[in-house]
Amino acid sequence: MKGRLVDKIAFVTGGGSGIGEAICKVFAAEGAMVAVSDINKQTSEKVAQDIVTSGGKAKAYELDVTNGARVKAVVADILDTWKKIDILVNNAGGGVEALFLESNESMWDKVIALNLKGTLLPTHAVLPSMIEQKYGKIINISSLAGKIGQGGHGLVYSACKAGVDVFAKALARDVARYNINVNSICPGTIDTPLLQSVPSLLEKMTKRIPLRKIGQPQEIAYAALYLASSESNYVTGHSMPVDGGLSMI
Ligand SMILES: NC(=O)c1ccc[n+]([C@@H]2O[C@H](COP(=O)([O-])OP(=O)(O)OC[C@H]3O[C@@H](n4cnc5c(N)ncnc54)[C@H](O)[C@@H]3O)[C@@H](O)[C@H]2O)c1
Repeated sequence: MKGRLVDKIAFVTGGGSGIGEAICKVFAAEGAMVAVSDINKQTSEKVAQDIVTSGGKAKAYELDVTNGARVKAVVADILDTWKKIDILVNNAGGGVEALFLESNESMWDKVIALNLKGTLLPTHAVLPSMIEQKYGKIINISSLAGKIGQGGHGLVYSACKAGVDVFAKALARDVARYNINVNSICPGTIDTPLLQSVPSLLEKMTKRIPLRKIGQPQEIAYAALYLASSESNYVTGHSMPVDGGLSMI
């Protein structure tokens, strides 16, 4: 089989929908064996089945990234099944439905757990095997919100995503000696169920994007493919905006 990820094992969180689904499918089409994980059992199974039906290799896992014990168990199963993990994509994430002054501590805890702890736990579980094999690509799906700050409903989410970016940078320094690259992608406005749940935002955002269009999940998946492939071997510690030009204004 030909492809940019032949013989690579990829573990993707939040892989049952939107950007995560696109990443799983693009990676599989490039030859990777994909552990499709999601808190939603049905969608992770559907994505894994789609990949297998298209001739690729995938296994579904029901996984809540905020549950450390379950993260460890899933990583152990992937290592047992495929003997290594070459690529980790920390994609699971999301925001809060309330304005800051209308939100409360338990809502913040949820956003922090999903976006920040949900990045730390899979990374912590996967790193020892990457260090041992002296190879790894860790890709965090962050957000433009973490770079420029998203007001309104996005304050705590923005803070988490900024944390995710700087965690990638800090970790990249520590693990570079093991040939492990750590980078973030900062999507702008991408057409996924997450965005479709806020139609007013969608219309407002399109007018502000220099390319005058909402991005597609595949456009993030191709950036992830670059960071997962050997083409990016000299790239680490960066957060890459993929945003139709939104961050340059
Ligand atoms: N869509 C956008 O415009 C946009 C912009 C910037 C950043 N992002 C980021 O991209 C990533 C993917 O978002 P999306 O737009 O594809 O959203 P989405 O809602 O389509 O997909 C998110 C997936 O994560 C899963 N998930 C939710 N909680 C989870 C948990 N605790 N454990 C495991 N899986 C969980 C959901 O079931 C879903 O399948 C997120 O980190 C999000 O913050 C999205």
